[in-house]
Amino acid sequence: MEKTVRGTTARVDDKVALVTGAASGMGRTNCIRLAEAGADVIALDQTSAAEALAETASLVADAGGRCITATCDVVDVEGMAAAVDAAVVQAGRLDIVVANAGIYPAAGFSWELTDAEWQRPLDINVTGVWATVKATLPHLESGASIVIISSTNGLKGGARVAHYAAGKHAVVGLARTLANEVGPRGIRVNTVHPGSVATPMILNDAVFAKLRPDLEHPTQNDAAEALAKRNLLPVPWVQPEDVSNAVLFLASEMSRYVTGTQLVVDAGLLQKV
Ligand SMILES: NC(=O)c1ccc[n+]([C@@H]2O[C@H](COP(=O)([O-])OP(=O)(O)OC[C@H]3O[C@@H](n4cnc5c(N)ncnc54)[C@H](O)[C@@H]3O)[C@@H](O)[C@H]2O)c1
Repeated sequence: MEKTVRGTTARVDDKVALVTGAASGMGRTNCIRLAEAGADVIALDQTSAAEALAETASLVADAGGRCITATCDVVDVEGMAAAVDAAVVQAGRLDIVVANAGIYPAAGFSWELTDAEWQRPLDINVTGVWATVKATLPHLESGASIVIISSTNGLKGGARVAHYAAGKHAVVGLARTLANEVGPRGIRVNTVHPGSVATPMILNDAVFAKLRPDLEHPTQNDAAEALAKRNLLPVPWVQPEDVSNAVLFLASEMSRYVTGTQLVVDAGLLQKV
C-alpha cells in the first residue's frame, strides 16, 4: 500500500529550494521559512539588491539553513540558466522553486500607459517567471514542487493596474499548462495569490498616494484604513510570513497531490462584496 505523509507539520528536510526576489519582502520570508522547515536555500535577486541579499543569507543561516546566493536579472534567460546551473552544482540538487521576483508598476489607466510602462512589468512578472522555470526544470525530478507567486490581481482586475493584472493572470495560464506538462514526471506546479502584503512593494509613499488620493501627504495609517475596507477580516494586509506558510505547504509533501491550483492568501479580499 502507498505510504501516507506522517507528522502534522510541513517539513522540507534535505531539500534545496531556489527563491527569486529573495532580497526583500516575501522572497526573504520564503527563504527563512523554508530554512526553518529544513531546506537549504538558493537565494537569487538582481545585482542591485546584492547587499540586501547578503542579509537574507545571514537570516537563513540564523534559521539553520545553508544559503547560496546568486545574482541575476530574471528576464535574462541565458543569465538565469547559467546562474541556476552554477548554484545547483554548489547546492548539490534542486527540489523546490519559488518564482517570486516581481514589480508593482506605477498606476495608470490602460490607455495612458506608454509602450515601456506596459512592457516592463510583463517582462519581469511573466517572462521572468518563465525564465526561472526554464532554467530550473532540467534540475528537477519526481517529487519537486514549483510555486509561482501571482496576486489577487491574477484572479481579478484592479484599478489602473492593467499591466500588473495582465501579467499576474498570465502566470496562472503558464502554471496550469506547466502542471499538465510536468505532472507525468511527478512534478507539481501551483500559484499563490496574496492580497495586500506588508512589504516594501506596497508600504511606500507612491502606493499610499494611490490609495488615498483625498489626502495631500497620506501616511501608512491612512493607507491602512483604505486597505482594511477591502478585506473581509479586520486587517489592512497580511504579513509576508503568512504567504510563506502557504508556500511551505505547497513546497512540502503535505500537498503532494495538489497541482495546477491557485492558493489565495488575502484576508478575504477576493470574496468581499
Ligand atoms: N506586496 C504585496 O502586496 C503583493 C501582493 C500580491 C502579490 N505580490 C507579489 O509577490 C512577489 C514579491 O513581492 P514583495 O511584496 O515581496 O516585493 P518586494 O518589492 O519587497 O520584493 C521584490 C523583490 O524582487 C526583486 N526583483 C525585482 N525585479 C527583479 C528582476 N528583474 N530580477 C531579479 N529580481 C528582481 C527585487 O529586487 C526585490 O528583492 C511579487 O511577485 C509581487 O508581485 C505582492
